Formats: sequence, structure tokens, C-alpha cells
Amino acid sequence: MKVIINAAMSLDGKIDTVERRGASLSSPQDKRRVLELRASVDAVMVGGNTLRQENPKLTVKLPELEQQRILKGLPPNPAKVAISTRAELDLQGDFVRVGQAQRILFCTSLAPARQINVLKELGVQVFLCGEKKVDLPQAFNALASLGIQTLMLEGGSTLIAECISLGLADELLVYVAPKLFGGATAPSLVGGGGWVESSAKMLRLVNAQVFDELGGLLLHYQFL
Ligand SMILES: NC(=O)c1ccc[n+]([C@@H]2O[C@H](COP(=O)([O-])OP(=O)(O)OC[C@H]3O[C@@H](n4cnc5c(N)ncnc54)[C@H](OP(=O)(O)O)[C@@H]3O)[C@@H](O)[C@H]2O)c1
Repeated sequence: MKVIINAAMSLDGKIDTVERRGASLSSPQDKRRVLELRASVDAVMVGGNTLRQENPKLTVKLPELEQQRILKGLPPNPAKVAISTRAELDLQGDFVRVGQAQRILFCTSLAPARQINVLKELGVQVFLCGEKKVDLPQAFNALASLGIQTLMLEGGSTLIAECISLGLADELLVYVAPKLFGGATAPSLVGGGGWVESSAKMLRLVNAQVFDELGGLLLHYQFL
């Protein structure tokens, strides 16, 4: 399975402000690019905090993009995938309720059985992977066995870090907005515990472009 990380960050590497309310970073042109990328993949994944803080729909939104997928014999939207240790997601939220899409949740044995049952009743496919946190290699294998060949990982910071640590990411697409958010506690593109210098993750630049008239950049890297 090919894993593409996609995110938008400020010039100082933050993917949200210290308020953590899902600050807007993408330009209109970048929003369109993100929807097109979503429309081209089999599944879109986010971590538990992103789900709770942003309540994302994770759909392709535009009828023309849905139509293009349908014409290819695909469902209107890619599968939506959530990663949450205790299956802590809003049962009324847009992940569960919005869009015609397969919905998949990976949680652990710490998740309450009642919450899992309700999610299943709502049509969410629930997989138990791991004990203290979701075992991502196991989850990715499960996705591959469901036929998912391309996965777009949309954040946040912790999940991106964990995937990179485990060597699960293939590509990184990042829109750099000409904005500064600052703040030591604002989430950066890659969170987690960090790596010492000798373990720094290396990437190869595939393409860099000035992406819009606002001065945003689009950077495309491959993990080595
Ligand atoms: N600008 C952008 O492109 C962009 C995109 C997405 C998100 N964001 C921002 O990113 C912030 C959220 O990032 P975050 O780092 O706080 O959280 P996150 O990466 O969205 O979610 C982390 C959560 O994932 C769950 N998890 C379970 N097993 C895991 C594993 N093995 N590895 C990693 N995560 C695992 C846990 O959820 P439970 O707590 O449910 O157990 C953990 O708390 C928000 O401010 C959001 O707005 C920005």
C-alpha cells in the first residue's frame, strides 16, 4: 500500500495554532488540490485528535469529483479511516454521518465495547489492533487486505510522526502557507518524541512550486 502524507503548514512548520481549533492554512487553490488528491486515493486517514478537534468530513465534496470516481466504477468517496485508542469519536460527527463512504475505525482493546457496538450499528467497520495504542503496521496490513492500495494520511502531528517512525510513509506533500503561527505548543508537521540527529529522516525532493498568487509553496518529497 502506498502512503502519501498530505498537510498544510505555516512557514514556521505549524499545522495549527496554539488554540488547536483546526486553523485554516490552505488557499482556495490548495483546497481544490487536496480534494483532487482525495478523489484519487482509495482511503483517507486521520488521528483521534484531528477527528475531535476538526470534525472533518473527509469526502471529495465536489459533485464532479464524485462523478469522476463513479465513472471509474469506484464509490463516490474514498474510504474514511480513523485511528483512536479508545474509539473516542463523536457518534453524531461528520466522520460517521456525512458522505457516502466506507468508514473504518482502528482502536485497541481499551475501547469500551458499548462504543464499538454503537459504531458498528452505524455502519462503521471497527478493527481492534493493539493494546495501549493502535498497532499501525497491523492496521495498514488490514487496510491492504481490504483492497486499499493508496492511502492519504491527513494528520495530525502525532499520527504523521508515528507513521514516519515506523517507516510506513512513502511520500510527503506539504503546502507551505505564507503565514507564521508561532507558539512552542502549537502542533508542528511532525510531532511525537522527535529523532536524534543521527536518526533524522531523509527525503528526496520530487517537485517544488510556487503554488498560488498568495505566495504559498507546494513541496513534494519522497521518503528515502
Ligand atoms: N494543517 C493540517 O494539514 C492539519 C491536518 C490534520 C490535523 N491538523 C491539526 O493537528 C492537530 C492534531 O494533531 P495531534 O498530534 O494532536 O493528534 P492526531 O495525530 O490527529 O491524533 C493522535 C491520536 O491518534 C490516536 N492514536 C492511536 N494510536 C496511535 C498511534 N499508534 N500513533 C499515533 N496516533 C495514535 C490517539 O487517539 P485517541 O486520543 O483517540 O486515543 C492519539 O491521541 C490539530 O490541531 C489539527 O487541527 C492539521
